[in-house]
Amino acid sequence: MGGALGGVLDNTLGGALAAAAGRLDAAGIESARLDARLLASFALGWEQVRILSHPEHALRPEQRQAMDALVARRAAREPLAAITGQCEFWSLDFTVTKDVLVPRPDSETLVEAALASVKDQDADVEVIDFGTGTGCLLLALLSELPNARGLGVDVSKAALAVATGNAERLGLDGRVRFELSDWDAGVDGQFDLVVANPPYIADADFADLEPEVARFEPRLALSGGADGLDCYQALGPGLSRLLKADGHAFVEIGATQADAVSRILRRHELEPICVHKDLSGLPRVIEAIKNF
Ligand SMILES: C[S@@+](CC[C@H](N)C(=O)[O-])C[C@H]1O[C@@H](n2cnc3c(N)ncnc32)[C@H](O)[C@@H]1O
Repeated sequence: MGGALGGVLDNTLGGALAAAAGRLDAAGIESARLDARLLASFALGWEQVRILSHPEHALRPEQRQAMDALVARRAAREPLAAITGQCEFWSLDFTVTKDVLVPRPDSETLVEAALASVKDQDADVEVIDFGTGTGCLLLALLSELPNARGLGVDVSKAALAVATGNAERLGLDGRVRFELSDWDAGVDGQFDLVVANPPYIADADFADLEPEVARFEPRLALSGGADGLDCYQALGPGLSRLLKADGHAFVEIGATQADAVSRILRRHELEPICVHKDLSGLPRVIEAIKNF
């Protein structure tokens, strides 16, 4: 009787959710229950509230298969955003692919700090974003600054295609352009806001990365060379050259890099004026101005 009941329950959404959560938990995923729910929501095309309120729903074979396939990918530690192809950042929906870094909540620190530096939010602010990836930083800024225009730069053609699609979907494509460039190599102009979240993982730290990051995110978006600082060294001259006299630069950093990156910025006539902390209270963004 118990076996038969178990069999019946297994075919319900509630049973499948419990099995999925157990499988994800065994794979070392901390947010196993939440991830199981999100994957079910994606597999069935149902809102989460419907998933939660219908545990008795008998899954059709194709629903069960779709859910199992997604759970298997997540159990192999593929990031949720890579599986669903979607990620929320700054309350905006971004498409992600294997060619871009999944936007991190901590990077919202940069958006918040950059917005706070703009005195008149209706002004014609010119923004440049180095290493734009999904375009998340630039597009979040443009979504808040109605008259701002932006340039997103990346060395990855595939990333630029993702960013372009995101700009279109968010209705911001009229105010943004994207350029293929090795940092500032092909870029001219003067910008009020210069922002960058460059790759900053040191070679030795790759061994400590979560499998989601190490196995599935592009090395080009992560690797900062032997000491993690290569990209800041490469970016320094461009940040300084392209920043307006009264502009502000914002660079995201690894939690231990504030001093080293500040030194690099100073070598390029930039004065760090604030280290902004992230949601965990860790140093995350350096704000700098021109140092004449
Ligand atoms: C850490 S990801 C940041 C992506 C996005 N801005 C964000 O905050 O989520 C770094 C980005 O820098 C780009 N990148 C790496 N080397 C570059 C270079 N030499 N010139 C321009 N972009 C580069 C990568 O392709 C990647 O999109």
